[in-house]
Amino acid sequence: MTRSAVLAGIGSFLPSRRVTNEHLTARLDTSDEWIRTRTGIRQRYFAEPGTTTSDLAAEAGARAMKSAGLAEVDAVVLATTTPDRPCPATAPTVAAKLGLVGCPAFDVQAVCTGFVYALATACGLLAAGGADTVLVIGAEMFSTILNPADRTTSVIFGDGAGAMVVRAARAADGGAIGPFDLGSDGTGADLITVRAGGAEQRRGRSAPTAGDEYFSMAGREVFRQAVEHMAASARAVLSRAGWQAGDIDWLACHQANLRILVRLADVLGIPEARVLANIAAVGNTSAASIPLVLDQAHQAGRFQAGDRLLLSAFGGGLTWGSTVLTWPDLTRP
Ligand code: ACO
Repeated sequence: MTRSAVLAGIGSFLPSRRVTNEHLTARLDTSDEWIRTRTGIRQRYFAEPGTTTSDLAAEAGARAMKSAGLAEVDAVVLATTTPDRPCPATAPTVAAKLGLVGCPAFDVQAVCTGFVYALATACGLLAAGGADTVLVIGAEMFSTILNPADRTTSVIFGDGAGAMVVRAARAADGGAIGPFDLGSDGTGADLITVRAGGAEQRRGRSAPTAGDEYFSMAGREVFRQAVEHMAASARAVLSRAGWQAGDIDWLACHQANLRILVRLADVLGIPEARVLANIAAVGNTSAASIPLVLDQAHQAGRFQAGDRLLLSAFGGGLTWGSTVLTWPDLTRP
């Protein structure tokens, strides 16, 4: 039997501090109207002081394991751009918080594409026989790397976490995940970056300037590339799966900008009503965004068993990736 990966459980977690556009306009040269019309965002959540990325990840992970009916998994893969520390990886801390001391646990860093990369890694572990169940988490605390004075980034991002449990099964089983399409273009590394904190500046390869410790993004340049790469990647994965755009029940993309979601759906020929969007309520949660939007749609009862989903993401690196999955018969809590 060829081992395949199927979705066995899903969960998500948002911190409690809701930050509306109005909260931001009180301290930044911006407006609710600009944020809503240029991004689709109305509010986001920031974690309280004292909370870390591993706390959000562990909460989402616990919910996904509960949804899968599992008290243990064989491995934990965490996608994050905002680890608790530069070293070590955050996944072992998450595993420990879940009572999973002893199981392999590691981080994947592909910024907003991180969850798709982590899911592909988990599916590879299952296919290779390295695990029978894997907890895949996307968790971010972008509030810790945003420059509060930078209106071009601080209105966009929010904190949150989403998780899936994937398990080995037959390809024909409900919930099958894959194939995947993944890619990168490191010549665009400067477009989405945190310059400080790595070997480059420690070894004097680039001179430090004010604000290097903060996240920066050349949004306008990235916008066009986001649509182009996600469209090409989505088409590649559809072709590998033998599916047409018309077969897709739900388009579940990284939530970077509502205008990107609408443009992408249009380019792919998928009706807007089939696009999952929660960016208005949570902002851009980077690696957490795809499992978060999927879990919220699942909780709202939007999926039927057998629905065909197309997942696609684009982010820093530059990186991009897509996959497909058939929604399983998952009970809702
Ligand atoms: N409030 C008011 N005005 C603003 C704000 C703000 N918060 N931010 C920027 N502006 C101004 C700019 O200064 C500019 O003014 P100017 O014309 O006088 O120079 C004007 O608004 C237009 O700026 P643009 O950057 O062209 O705005 P745009 O419509 O492109 O929206 C945005 C910016 C939302 C960032 C958009 O470009 C975008 O979504 N880009 C893609 C992001 C993406 O996909 N990233 C990858 C994934 S995320 C990741 O990997 C972490």
